[in-house]
Amino acid sequence: MREPNASPTPEPVPDPSLDAAVAPLEVAPDAGREWWRTAVVYQVVLRSFADGDGDGVGDVAGLRARLGHLAALGVDAVWVNPWYASPMVDAGYDVADYRALDPRYGELEDAEALVREAHALGLRVLLDVVPNHTSDQHAWFRAALAGDGAARARYLFRPGRGEHGELPPNDWESCFRGPAWTRTTTPDGEPGDWYLHLFAPEQPDLDWSNREVHEEMLDVLRFWFDRGVDGFRVDVAHGLVKAPGLPDAEGRDRRTEEHPGWDQDEVHDVWREWRALADSYDPPRVFVAEAWPARRAERLPLYLRPDELHTAFEFEPLHVAWRARPWRDVVDRSLAMAGLTGAPCAWVLTNHDVVRQATRYARSQWAEKGTNETERARWPDEVPDLALGRRRARAAVVLTASLPGVLYVYLGEELGLEEVEDLPAALRTDPIFARSGGTDPGREGSRVPLPWSGDAPPFGFSPPTRPDGSPSAPPHLPQPAGWAALSAQAQDGDPSSTLSLYRRLLALRREHLAGAGPMRWLPTPSPDVLALAREGTALQSWVNLGADPVALPAGARVLVASAPVEDGVLPGDAGAWVLVGG
Ligand code: NOJ
Repeated sequence: MREPNASPTPEPVPDPSLDAAVAPLEVAPDAGREWWRTAVVYQVVLRSFADGDGDGVGDVAGLRARLGHLAALGVDAVWVNPWYASPMVDAGYDVADYRALDPRYGELEDAEALVREAHALGLRVLLDVVPNHTSDQHAWFRAALAGDGAARARYLFRPGRGEHGELPPNDWESCFRGPAWTRTTTPDGEPGDWYLHLFAPEQPDLDWSNREVHEEMLDVLRFWFDRGVDGFRVDVAHGLVKAPGLPDAEGRDRRTEEHPGWDQDEVHDVWREWRALADSYDPPRVFVAEAWPARRAERLPLYLRPDELHTAFEFEPLHVAWRARPWRDVVDRSLAMAGLTGAPCAWVLTNHDVVRQATRYARSQWAEKGTNETERARWPDEVPDLALGRRRARAAVVLTASLPGVLYVYLGEELGLEEVEDLPAALRTDPIFARSGGTDPGREGSRVPLPWSGDAPPFGFSPPTRPDGSPSAPPHLPQPAGWAALSAQAQDGDPSSTLSLYRRLLALRREHLAGAGPMRWLPTPSPDVLALAREGTALQSWVNLGADPVALPAGARVLVASAPVEDGVLPGDAGAWVLVGG
């Protein structure tokens, strides 16, 4: 007989080496009960959620019209990806004006109405702020290129190396491939200085050693906070500040090694300023960091000190294989970090940058972590078993929804959507696609417009006609015909659907887990099975990451399951919440 993979009470064990790095907690009077510690947050890629005006691009009107879907789903907050005026080179992460909506999405009044209506439904609204870089079409950068010295000082312009300045100022690489520098042309047509862009050339990096940059971004935050916005997701929060002198990286990998372009200590001054501003509002506003510092276990907690950012995405689940041991390790590591900082974990199964989980779990699972690149590189080589992938994806949320902390739900995951892998090249507008010479298909496959209803595209994504009566444009990315069966309408009322599973999980989470305490792992009959209990509730979460069925505890009453449980047996690749002795 196999030994059960029990470990009696592995409360997260703080790594003592981290203690010195994290200041002691100052405990606020309502510490531990704030909404953002246990919320479920729904991520909206606006152009792909719902189209209100028939141009084939989602917009604020579409989101407003579909807020009922989110309320019925049972989420607490909505996070809207950048909706600002933008040339959309990087899906809006290239912001031309932080105080205006892109006209494709609506007007400022639409944004204000959205916040009002969401609040009326009990939903909070988080926006996305992009402080590391602007668009090259931002007024500041245009003025900088036109030779305005004050404007140039807000970016990182440097002379090139080499005899004629023909070589980039240093050896840094863009996250989107290729050099992180682009050479400018002077107003009189001569080759000029270079400017830094850690992402696409159309996304010049701001110079955060310039006080004007701080003041401007604080003012942008105020602009939206004053309109009732509840907080921000902070884009590349480990970016912004660069090492003085912009020294060469000398081949260091920014993801795993200290790199002069990333995670500099001075960036924490920015977060302290932002936190002070957020705390000056009533109710206080909140931040969630997108941060990928190298040496994560040591460096990420620094962003979560009590006077900095409230939460940071827990990204390990995006890449972990569908296997029990690695999943358990991820959970333990994350909770250990949370134990150090007092910040809750913010669990993410997918987002707009990665392959959707139904597809990730539909191919062979490697024990070691994959990356986005390695995941997408598998597409031509291995036919996905989507039925299996969906089954596992359903089981995965049974696990993550039961963990202590915040849960993020990415648009369409509640419908079980898969990655769309066969988009035509002409529609792959992600800069990663072009800059990789087409070898990496990029991220558009996770951003295809949602199917809402009906038997054929656009599946209710757009209204039949535009306001002038002409027929609506097709969705900006084509939807697979098979999504008819996955539309919200098709799944509504079907108790076995993924939508029903998510609704039930979120309702039960509110009922049983909102006030629950820390978790502990439970003994299980197989090393492929993870089971956990939370303090203060009789609810247990059981997830079978193997193929063989296992018996649930005797007398367990099933509250929800990702696949039918018969005679107390949990099938393979399935999860269930059960009440035991409660
Ligand atoms: C992270 C965002 O999630 C991603 O979509 C974007 O391309 C980069 N930051 C650059 O802003």
